[in-house]
Amino acid sequence: METKVVNKLPTRGANAALILSVADRKHCPKFAIPDESSKAITRAVKRGDLATTANSTLTLHDVPGLPVPRVVLQRCGTARTDRPIASVEARGEGIASALAATGSDHAMIVLDSLNCPTGASIETCAQILTATLVAKQYQFREHPRTELPPPSALKILTFIVDKKFGAEVKRGATQGLAIAQGMALARDLSNTAPNICTPEYLAIQARKLGKGDKSMQVSVLDEARMEKLGMAAFLAVSQGSRQPARLIAMQYNNARKSQKPIILVGKGVTFDTGGISIKPSAGMDEMKFDMCGAATVFGVMQACQALGLKINLIGVVAAVENMPDGNACRPGDVVRTLSGQSVEILNTDAEGRLVLCDTLTWVERFKPHAVVDIATLTGACVVALGDVCSAVLGNDSALVDELYAAGQESADTTWPLPLWIDYQHQLDSNFADMANVGGKGAGAITAACFLSRFTKNYRWAHLDIAGVAWNSGGTKGATGRPVPMLMHWLMGQAA
Ligand code: BES
Ligand code: MN
Ligand code: ZN
Repeated sequence: METKVVNKLPTRGANAALILSVADRKHCPKFAIPDESSKAITRAVKRGDLATTANSTLTLHDVPGLPVPRVVLQRCGTARTDRPIASVEARGEGIASALAATGSDHAMIVLDSLNCPTGASIETCAQILTATLVAKQYQFREHPRTELPPPSALKILTFIVDKKFGAEVKRGATQGLAIAQGMALARDLSNTAPNICTPEYLAIQARKLGKGDKSMQVSVLDEARMEKLGMAAFLAVSQGSRQPARLIAMQYNNARKSQKPIILVGKGVTFDTGGISIKPSAGMDEMKFDMCGAATVFGVMQACQALGLKINLIGVVAAVENMPDGNACRPGDVVRTLSGQSVEILNTDAEGRLVLCDTLTWVERFKPHAVVDIATLTGACVVALGDVCSAVLGNDSALVDELYAAGQESADTTWPLPLWIDYQHQLDSNFADMANVGGKGAGAITAACFLSRFTKNYRWAHLDIAGVAWNSGGTKGATGRPVPMLMHWLMGQAA
């Protein structure tokens, strides 16, 4: 996809669609349209053919006076008051569905501050519309099939805006495109079958991302290195698998050397059977998505590269497979973590925190400005928040607030859960410094409590993305979340 910004109606567009917002009975803004076209459009709206519900669309063909064969009218409803930016996303989705019913190769969106909801800048609108529209074109095409669906026809997205908004909209569109492409990378990696997407596969993808980019340095630790370092918790998860674990670091340095790096740590469990505490078989295939945190890190790194973001960022991926086997770790095993603290593994299915705790200790060596881990960590998070938002917890309220705000601005939301010490006692163990699972209640919080014991030396936040990272059922597949939220946060850090 290619994005453009112009300040008048293009003179050509043989297979294009012009997208206009309609508020009340008027389409806005009018400046882009010749009078005779405007009249024909107004007549169609007055007839009542465009539903009054927000974001519904009506496609008109061969409107006189226009260089394009179709016009998509979209009802501009009142913005949501709880989350104004979600209204912009809904608009993008409405446009994408209307376009999907056509063979348009070019979408021309007339954008004005008038058709942006209050609380959303025209730059943000351009960004969200671009990201949504491009993300909607995504198809997973990585596996061979005898019948692949035809690729999406849409190739160009043009914003038609008043000159005075040109620079802002251009910026928004560029960011939106990079975000959507980052999401596509995250989704491709996540959707790839777990017999292909192994820890070593992820290491290869990381090296690919680093290739030819002088600002990106990639390093991979194998199990021997991890053992020497003392990462026994990480390796306890891996020991039941034939696939060797990998600890991957992608260092993107594009700011002053003196600037401390931001670190993203992704849970990269390429398949989670639960281990000896094995999971029920129904739906277990979805545990290939247990590396969506890692996939998010890849997507973010690529988007930062594409935008040339002026930051120092390290993407770290803890890549491992959790399998039951004669050599697998057992419930009751005690391991010494890289931090020196010991852990009694009461449940081998709580493996994410075991690989993350050693990784979170390991990243101390980079003297981070802040660390954010991203993990499909608990089913309890899905119970608490569903598929609407991720959970955010951390040891620095300013950092948690920043991530919350980035969620609101990107329509890729996150919601705070309390990380109070009241929950810590659930991890008490009679045989080690801590157990790897808590009791019945507050599973998403006790998982974060466990991680908090390894993050005391820096500002840290944890994102539990178990509910948002993929869809089940008929639309089964990775979503690319929370790439948009993290990109919003990082773009703010660069500014
Ligand atoms: N990867 C799972 C969490 C998960 C489960 C995410 C289902 C999305 C859907 C994680 O490794 C896990 O198994 N967590 C356990 C923790 C429990 C043993 C304390 C869980 O949530 O059941
Ligand atoms: Mn598990
Ligand atoms: Zn898991």
